[in-house]
Amino acid sequence: MSFKLPELPYAYDALAPYMSAETLEFHHDKHHNAYVTKGNELLAGSGLEGKSLEEIIKESYGKNAALFNNAGQHYNHIHFWKWMKKDGGGSLPGALSSKIDSDLGGFDKFRADFIAAGVGQFGSGWAWLAIKDGKLEIMKTPNGENPLVHGATPILGVDVWEHSYYIDYRNARPKYLEAFIDNMVNWDYVLELYEAAS
Ligand SMILES: [Fe+2]
Repeated sequence: MSFKLPELPYAYDALAPYMSAETLEFHHDKHHNAYVTKGNELLAGSGLEGKSLEEIIKESYGKNAALFNNAGQHYNHIHFWKWMKKDGGGSLPGALSSKIDSDLGGFDKFRADFIAAGVGQFGSGWAWLAIKDGKLEIMKTPNGENPLVHGATPILGVDVWEHSYYIDYRNARPKYLEAFIDNMVNWDYVLELYEAAS
């Protein structure tokens, strides 16, 4: 296989004012595209050609840092675009809501802990809601890493690299994370991944 940049699932201005067209143009067309281009260069001759993206991530972890980070970022961004939608946020689908109640102490605690994970990730990285051994967990990872290499399946992730928020929020990462949860998350896609992983 080779990596391929997916189309954004909405117009560049669909998430405004919470995420501007300018941010999405740079983030998707430049940053994600660079991970795809660099990832394909690094995949050639790596011995992992022909594997799935998930396998490439798991098998390059700890062995081929450059390929791992580019493949990880490709995977993370494919989902990141789908984890957002126009008029996102709002109430959770029932099955997910009750699981968050039982595993994470309810939506308000989940929201606070997820934002804290994103704020607390020093430097570039991601905050996650993932499922591991049947239980929901909040995680954070540096750079292109994700829960797949920790035996977990991510069902929601937020990019806390500065390229994701600096144009719209400058250094105010907490404000960006609040807007992500309250106004951008596509809970239907989170539910789809949760049901697939359960
Ligand atoms: Fe990014």
